[in-house]
Amino acid sequence: MISPGSPVRLIPRPRRKSSNVIVSFLVILALLWFWSFQRNIASRPAACEDVPDPLDAIKNGTLGFEKIFVINSPQRLDRRDAIVLGSSATGLHVDFIDQMDLHQDSAKGNEPTNGLEEIAAFRSHLNAVQRIVADRLASALIFEDDVDWDVNLKTQLKGFARGAQKIQKSNASYSPYGDSWDLLWLGHCGVKCNTSSPVQIMPHDITAISARFLPPYSYDAPAGTGNNVRMTCKMEEAACSGAYAISYRASQKILAALTLSTATRAVKFEGLLSQLCHDGSLECYSSYPSLVGRWNWTSRETGPSDSIQESDSHASLSMGAMYSTLQNVGRLLDGESRVQATVDDALVPELNPDLFEVPYAVLQWTDEKGGHERHV
Ligand SMILES: *[C@@H]1O[C@H](CO)[C@@H](O)[C@H](O)[C@H]1NC(C)=O
Ligand SMILES: *[C@@H]1O[C@H](CO)[C@@H](O)[C@H](O)[C@H]1NC(C)=O
Ligand SMILES: *[C@@H]1O[C@H](CO)[C@@H](O)[C@H](O)[C@H]1NC(C)=O
Ligand SMILES: *[C@@H]1O[C@H](CO)[C@@H](O)[C@H](O)[C@H]1NC(C)=O
Repeated sequence: MISPGSPVRLIPRPRRKSSNVIVSFLVILALLWFWSFQRNIASRPAACEDVPDPLDAIKNGTLGFEKIFVINSPQRLDRRDAIVLGSSATGLHVDFIDQMDLHQDSAKGNEPTNGLEEIAAFRSHLNAVQRIVADRLASALIFEDDVDWDVNLKTQLKGFARGAQKIQKSNASYSPYGDSWDLLWLGHCGVKCNTSSPVQIMPHDITAISARFLPPYSYDAPAGTGNNVRMTCKMEEAACSGAYAISYRASQKILAALTLSTATRAVKFEGLLSQLCHDGSLECYSSYPSLVGRWNWTSRETGPSDSIQESDSHASLSMGAMYSTLQNVGRLLDGESRVQATVDDALVPELNPDLFEVPYAVLQWTDEKGGHERHV
């Protein structure tokens, strides 16, 4: 009879225990080896293909912002048609925000009385800003409804984002345009760059329109620009609010500036934005020349009804967009491979947009040792 305490029972026990330990150790070792082997073969291609480039988000329907809003009057459905058409031809998804109605809004009383149109425009922009805060949007791009943009906008913005990130010295963990910007002034009629900040220069950007073909700008061209040169910079001031992107934080600050300030309100929204960039409340970046252009609706409305047939082939309703989306929308819909430039002195008068790549760019900056330049 074997008692529980007898050696017969006790001897195999430690042996069984130690063999158990060895077996489990081997199993774990094998599993570890197998797992690491699998990870190695799985992770090697992943490292080059699957790690997403943060700049890829710029190619999405909202250009790497959470929304694109277009401020448009319900009375101007023709402009809405044009934006919808241009967006569909270039892969953008836009949401419309109704422009304030002047007549309903005129009798409120406590608004400044100079220019109903300006008040309505101001309030309409503010409604877009309010929407960003209310809906907790990380960022949004706001367009006025007479914008026109280059067919190559997504590629242009990729180059802009690369420059903006380098100037911010920031990663792109939250936004492909970098993590510290508040405002990206993409459609303007004149910008003043901060000269003590680094700038990105593209010396040969075929989409950069030369100064004589740009609509009138409120500021001189930044030093260092010229024909077919594009500059991305940290900016101090700008004019015209045709297109700008703002972050959630910037939207809060804009509302706060109006709610908390006792100073007299800027009459134009662009003036308010420019002021907030200038006084350092917002960190603002821009591109010269403007990345977003305009469509000349005035010319369309006042011109002779058959002006499209009559006008010579060089006349363009697009102002400031080299390969204008609206000007080329017929070609895009016909599936033609090439688009036409809107200005006479274009380096490439006809371009296949599939072949347009982000142009070569350098970062330029100055410190106590002098000027520096490096490819980015
Ligand atoms: C586009 O990318 C941005 C940034 O990653 C993101 O917030 C937005 O939701 C995306 N939009 C679409 C339509 O996928
Ligand atoms: C950006 O990311 C890199 C690597 O992930 C990190 O070393 C660096 O500190 C980050 N820079 C900033 C400004 O966050
Ligand atoms: C220009 O940028 C520098 C460095 O980023 C900053 O210190 C300075 O306040 C800016 N100047 C203006 C007028 O915005
Ligand atoms: C729009 O076109 C009209 C007529 O062609 C012209 O007089 C006007 O100057 C243009 N607008 C701008 C801002 O260039």
